[in-house]
Amino acid sequence: MRDLNERLRAAPIVPLIDESNADRSVATAKALDAGGLSVVEVVLRSEGALAGMQAICDAGDDLIVGAGTVLTIDQARQVHRAGAQFIVSPGLVDEIARYCLDEGLPFFPGTMTAGEVQRAYALGLREVKFFPASLAGGVPMLKAFGSVFREMRFMPTGGVSPANLTEFLALPHVLACGGSWLTPAEAIAAGDYDTVTALAQQAVELAQTVRG
Ligand code: 3PG
Repeated sequence: MRDLNERLRAAPIVPLIDESNADRSVATAKALDAGGLSVVEVVLRSEGALAGMQAICDAGDDLIVGAGTVLTIDQARQVHRAGAQFIVSPGLVDEIARYCLDEGLPFFPGTMTAGEVQRAYALGLREVKFFPASLAGGVPMLKAFGSVFREMRFMPTGGVSPANLTEFLALPHVLACGGSWLTPAEAIAAGDYDTVTALAQQAVELAQTVRG
């Protein structure tokens, strides 16, 4: 999707929204957008998460909303119907990959080994998540992947923070970094959305130091 790639070029960060309450999901997405991050991943880890994702889609803001922690093909179909503009999974399920490729829906399956990246490549994917990034070998592993998988681009997620964000983004084959550090549960529970906006701004500024 051209628009998704354009947005990620401008601000290569995908914040996770892990929220069961739809109003809080919308408020969090708006706070991230106010800080310069307009691509968000709503993770399906609670009962209300899907309704929250739909509420963000319906809010009419110019956000690109994806669904994360999609584990099954049924969930993939469900989130697509609900308006998800991309899908993220912790691992690689061929059936979901084929569905997304057929539908023209960007899909970022988690990969952490050369074999998994190669399987994704063979399926026709050219963009994958690298998960859990810090435990899977971090920047050195991604450098090694970059030298052999010349057409692949990666979205490291899992252990990314302001402390290592620029190291990941300095790699040209990193499409974007994902993470939950931008949406701290305590701040959101307290209604402190200014903190979310400030974290988004900080991440955008850090990204600009390496991606200009
Ligand atoms: C994910 O779902 O991608 C990870 O749980 C996010 O990891 P983080 O909390 O370390 O950012």
